[in-house]
Amino acid sequence: MFSFFEKKNYIADILDGMYDIHCHLLPGVDDGSPNAEHSAVLLKRLEDLGIRGIYFTPHIINGTYRSLGEAELRTEFAAFRYDGNIDIRLAAEYFIDDRFQEHMAGSPLAMGGNNILAEFSMSGYSLHAFDILFETTISGLEIIIAHPERYYFVQERGRDKVIKLIRQHQLQLNLLSLTGFHGSAAKKCAERLLEEGRYSFVGTDTHSNTYIDAMQKSTVSKKIFDKVNALKENNRSLFN
Ligand SMILES: [Fe+2]
Repeated sequence: MFSFFEKKNYIADILDGMYDIHCHLLPGVDDGSPNAEHSAVLLKRLEDLGIRGIYFTPHIINGTYRSLGEAELRTEFAAFRYDGNIDIRLAAEYFIDDRFQEHMAGSPLAMGGNNILAEFSMSGYSLHAFDILFETTISGLEIIIAHPERYYFVQERGRDKVIKLIRQHQLQLNLLSLTGFHGSAAKKCAERLLEEGRYSFVGTDTHSNTYIDAMQKSTVSKKIFDKVNALKENNRSLFN
């Protein structure tokens, strides 16, 4: 029965004890935190909310942002001074473009040994992109598709073929997709994929204070809260 005293399930409460596998807090390399001071503020807020570990996953997109490669990102990460208590690590969010395979054949920034976070264009995809992902898995890497619920081609109803293709890989839910932060279609799609048990991992995709503010303001149902909480154990396994 509804009660005014019923506990609210804030998205931010999911962060308690969580190991995050998706954020843009390596300063000055993409559309995330612009400088080290800002990253320190965001990391402090996340630590206060209970985050224990976090992979920095800067965008690697050919010709976009600073277009840094793995070696340069490793150098930037090594130079980042951090004195908090979060276990910070470096991976990347790879855009599936014509340079993707080159990156995979080199020294890719993986999580938990061999897991690669990969993203599609928001609006379109090609079957070729799925071939690329399939070939990558043959080479021994595992793909984690970032926020599938945000892609237009996944949101569209009746696209079972696409759903079958994305299901070949591990899927990562963006927490804020559950709030409408990424639009109502993404919210609906996230709820559906969560209900169907499709997700393996959860991430904050934090770029700025706005993301953390939204997590602190937004609530979800107890059912959704519990389903997302259950994914946190998988996240943790990538920090072994
Ligand atoms: Fe991201």
